[in-house]
Amino acid sequence: MESNERIAICYNLLCDVFIEGAYASLQLNNCLNSIKDEKDKAYITNLFYGVIEKSVQFDYIIRSIAGKKPKTSIELLIKMGLYHIRCMSTPAYAAVNEIVKLTKQVGKVGASGFVNAVLRRSEEVELPKDDGGTKYLSVNFSVPLWICDKLVSEYGYEFTKQFLSAQNNKLIHIRNNSRVIDKEEFEKLLGDFRKTQLGYFVEHDKLASLNKSYYTVQSLSSMIAVNCYIQGVGGSPVVLDLCGAPGGKSVYLEELAAGASIYCCDLHPHRVELIKKYVKRMKSDVKVILNDATVIFPEWINKCDIVICDVPCSGLGVYKNKPDVLLNKKPSDIEKLKRLQINILDNAKNYVKVGGLLCYSTCTVLKEENEENIAEFLRDNPQFTLEKIQSDFGDDGMVHLFPQMGEGFDGFFVARMRRKQ
Ligand SMILES: C[S@@+](CC[C@H](N)C(=O)[O-])C[C@H]1O[C@@H](n2cnc3c(N)ncnc32)[C@H](O)[C@@H]1O
Repeated sequence: MESNERIAICYNLLCDVFIEGAYASLQLNNCLNSIKDEKDKAYITNLFYGVIEKSVQFDYIIRSIAGKKPKTSIELLIKMGLYHIRCMSTPAYAAVNEIVKLTKQVGKVGASGFVNAVLRRSEEVELPKDDGGTKYLSVNFSVPLWICDKLVSEYGYEFTKQFLSAQNNKLIHIRNNSRVIDKEEFEKLLGDFRKTQLGYFVEHDKLASLNKSYYTVQSLSSMIAVNCYIQGVGGSPVVLDLCGAPGGKSVYLEELAAGASIYCCDLHPHRVELIKKYVKRMKSDVKVILNDATVIFPEWINKCDIVICDVPCSGLGVYKNKPDVLLNKKPSDIEKLKRLQINILDNAKNYVKVGGLLCYSTCTVLKEENEENIAEFLRDNPQFTLEKIQSDFGDDGMVHLFPQMGEGFDGFFVARMRRKQ
């Protein structure tokens, strides 16, 4: 594929995400399906996610030169040029020529002088120095200012800086499917791997050579969460996973708790299909149900030993791997999510048997989505008490994971509550 063809594809993808609000990973995967050459795929993926990741930093550079925000369609062209110049070591003149050509090609002839001028001056712009302020954090780590402000107010400046600067691992975290293959045999097949406390880090290329029913990609944090849900639980529990798609936690739980009857639900039919596909691939017996976790389902009342609410959240804990989770988010989105999380917990409590557990988890570190929800729930529901989780990840009985804790950790939160009466 010619290089102008690749960047044109990337431009269209970025417009879909930034202008039409499409999901980055879905849009990219659909597009990559029709591209044969691996090098083209890698180039498009790198440029597409790179521009998303650096978007906040590039806004700063563009505004420093232009004084105001250009139209998004123009801004994206400039951001693609900036990514070439600053992150792909493309000589500035070559990047400018390529992007100006693309500007004309996509019918923005009138903006080509502006795009040219901003890109040519972009190397003059210096990023803010570390002065202990959130503007530095926001521009340097390319994270919206309001999120940096929030993190600093909750955790302080140094902790936030560590959180934002923790590097994501380029290796993939996988586990063996113990229904199909045991660890020893799996490790022989893997050959080259790095063991973690619950799984393995492998090179992405390794996956192609493995039988798909032998393994699954699952983050270490997600695996830790499942171990927390069932800590100390024996027997044959009835487990209801209310926000379950694509099914990662339910299927892993089934492997840890032989004898459990597990029901994995989701609100969205297309996501329920994902659970079904995953359950089939993993040769699992988890039952799959379409259900809205905020609406009472009378047949389940008082029936479950464990109810899991792995709720929709801001995703701030995994933003390094999914940079689009921060795109177009506003403080009011967090408030909406918080209301949904509380509604789900409030409905889920009805399904827990006396003596059973209500588990809550998120992949965010924002306290209003985590410990504040738990405190509110316990205050309003004295029939539940916090069931402390024994772990190295927090001394309040809840589990708080942060990416700076080590390789493979995401920002994650888990809490459990036991129904006493
Ligand atoms: C964090 S994801 C769950 C990940 C899953 N537990 C796993 O480990 O694979 C949250 C899920 O909640 C679902 N969801 C959102 N609102 C819901 C609702 N009202 N009822 C049930 N599921 C909902 C979303 O579709 C999404 O799949």
